[in-house]
Amino acid sequence: MSYQVIARKYRPQTFDDVVGQHLVTDTLKNAILTDRVAHGYIFSGGRGVGKTTTARILAKALNCIAGPTITPDGTCPSCVEITAGNSVDVQEIDAASNRGIDEIRELREAVRYLPSRDRYKIFLIDEAHMLTTEAFNALLKTLEEPPPRSLFMLATTEPHKLPPTIQSRCQHFAFRLLDYGEIYDRLRAVVADENVSADEGAISTLAQAAEGSMRDGLSLLDQVIAACGQHLDEKRVRQVLGVVPAALLADIMTAVDAADSRRVLEQVGQLAAEGYELAHFCGELTRFVRDLMIGHSCGADSALIQVPTEQRKNIGEISGRFSEEDLSRFFNILLRAESEMRYALVPRFHLELALMKMVHARRLASLETLLSGLGTAALPARSSSVPSHATAPPAARVVAEPPRQVRPASFERPPAERPSPEPPVASTPPPAPVETAAPSAVAGEDPVLAAIKTKVYGQSNFLGSCLEHMTTWHVENGEATFVYAQKDSFFADLLKSREQQETLRTVCAQVLGQPVRICVRLEEQEKEARVERPNARQRAERDQNVEAFRKKFDGTVLDVKDLSRE
Ligand SMILES: Nc1ncnc2c1ncn2[C@@H]1O[C@H](COP(=O)(O)OP(=O)(O)OP(=O)(O)O)[C@@H](O)[C@H]1O
Ligand SMILES: [Mg+2]
Ligand SMILES: [Zn+2]
Repeated sequence: MSYQVIARKYRPQTFDDVVGQHLVTDTLKNAILTDRVAHGYIFSGGRGVGKTTTARILAKALNCIAGPTITPDGTCPSCVEITAGNSVDVQEIDAASNRGIDEIRELREAVRYLPSRDRYKIFLIDEAHMLTTEAFNALLKTLEEPPPRSLFMLATTEPHKLPPTIQSRCQHFAFRLLDYGEIYDRLRAVVADENVSADEGAISTLAQAAEGSMRDGLSLLDQVIAACGQHLDEKRVRQVLGVVPAALLADIMTAVDAADSRRVLEQVGQLAAEGYELAHFCGELTRFVRDLMIGHSCGADSALIQVPTEQRKNIGEISGRFSEEDLSRFFNILLRAESEMRYALVPRFHLELALMKMVHARRLASLETLLSGLGTAALPARSSSVPSHATAPPAARVVAEPPRQVRPASFERPPAERPSPEPPVASTPPPAPVETAAPSAVAGEDPVLAAIKTKVYGQSNFLGSCLEHMTTWHVENGEATFVYAQKDSFFADLLKSREQQETLRTVCAQVLGQPVRICVRLEEQEKEARVERPNARQRAERDQNVEAFRKKFDGTVLDVKDLSRE
C-alpha cells in the first residue's frame, strides 16, 4: 500500500477523537441524540483545525448502518465509503475549483433524488466562500426548501464571505485554533504510535511551529521524520524547520537591553552564516517580543502566550528588564521590518536597521516627556489621555516647520488689460489658496486681485467697476474682505446685494482655489474689527504654548488655521 501522510492517517474517526472542539462536537452529538439535526451547517475556522474531519464524522454518524448514532462503527459499507471519500450519498464538492452555477445546478438536480442507499443525502461543500454569487443564489433556493433527508455542510475559512441569506439558513459552528498544549499532546501520541523517539524539545518546537493548526503540526512532523529518521533531535528539528533557538532570541534581547549593538549585529551575521532565512527569523523575534509584551502586561503565565512551560520563566525575567513602552516600540519596529523585508532586495539590511533602532529606541525621549517638559499650563496633563480640544475652545492650529524653508510663491500674473470678455485666467489652473495676513498692497498691484477683477469684468462690467473703488482687500480665515472709504459707501452698498455677492463669491473661490465668504466693510468698521479681534495669526503668535513649542523645536510659524471658523 502506498504511503499515507500522517495528517490523513490520523484523521479522527469519531466525535471524541476530535481534539479541542468540544463545543461543536457536543452540540452535534446532542442534535443526533435528540433527532434535531439541521438541514444546513456552516463549519468555519482556521486551516487544519477539524472542519472537514467533523463534517465527515457527522455524515457517518447519520448514515452508519447502526445509526443515526454518535458512535458510528466505522466498519459498515457506508462508514468505509465515507472515510474513503467515495460514498454515493455523501458528495464532497470543492468550491475552490467548482465555483460556478453549473456545478450548483447539478447539485440541485442531485438533491431532488432521494438517497440511493443511505439515510441521508449529504453535500459537503468545502471552501464554500469561493462560490460565485449565482451559485449562492441557486444554493439558497435549495436551502430554503430542503428536500427531505438532505443535509448541507459548508466548510470555510472565511465565513464573513458567505452571503447573510445563506448564513441565516444554516447553523453556524466556529472552530477554534488549537492550543499549544493540545497540539503537543496529539503529536506526542502520534510519535509514539509511529515508533519514533523524540526529544521533549523537538515536539515542543513542532507544536509551536504549528501555530494552532493540527494539520500543520502533523505535516511538519512528517517532514522532520523524513529528515531525522527514527529519533527526533531538538537541534536538528529546529534546523529543518528553520526555527531559531529560544536561547538565541533571549540573547538578542539581552544585547538590546545592554545597548550592545556589536553583539546584536554579530548575532545576525552568525544566523546568516548558518543559513537561516532572516525574514523568518525576524518573524520569530517579533513573536518573541510580542510574548514579552504580553508577559509584561498580563504575567508570564498568561494563556495568551503559547510556549512550553520552561520558557515562561525566561519570558517573565526578560520582560521585566523593559518598560511596556519599550516593548511596544520594539514590536512596532519589528512588525514594520518584517513587512519591508518581504520586498527588499537585501533583507538583511532591513533587519540590521530594525535591530539598531531597537538598541537606540530606549535612548529616545517619548513625545509625552518632551511635551510635559514644555510645562505650560494649557497643555494636556500627561496622565489624561482625553484630547483637550474636546472641551477647550477651538484653538488655532499651527504648522511649524524648520526655519530654513521658504513658502513657495505660486501666482501667475494674469494679463493686466481689461475689460476682457473671455478672461484668459480661466484656462490657467487656479493658484494655491492664499491667506494674506495683513491688508494687502495697493489694489492695482496685487496679482490675485487683478485676476479677480479680470474675471469679474468678464461677467459684469458693473460689478467690476464697483471693485475699482475699494481702498484695500484681504483674505483671511476663509473670508475675502473688501474695504471702502466712507465717501465710497455707495459702491460698498451696491456690493452687498445678494446677486453681486454671489458672483463675487464664485469668482473669488475660483481664483483663490478655496471657498470663501464675502465681506464688505467701510474703513471705520474695518479698523474696529481689527482692534476688536486680532486675527488668527496674531493670536497664535501671542500664545504662550505656541511660543513654547516654537522654542522647543526651533520652528517658525508658517501657517495658521482658525479652526473655529471651519
Ligand atoms: N481538532 C482536531 N483533532 C485532531 N486532529 C485534527 C483536528 N483538526 C485537524 N486535525 C488533523 O488535521 C487533518 C486535517 O484536518 P481537517 O481536514 O479537518 O482540517 P480543516 O479544518 O478542514 O482544514 P482546511 O480548512 O484546511 O480544509 C486531519 O486529518 C487530522 O489529522
Ligand atoms: Mg477542510
Ligand atoms: Zn457505520
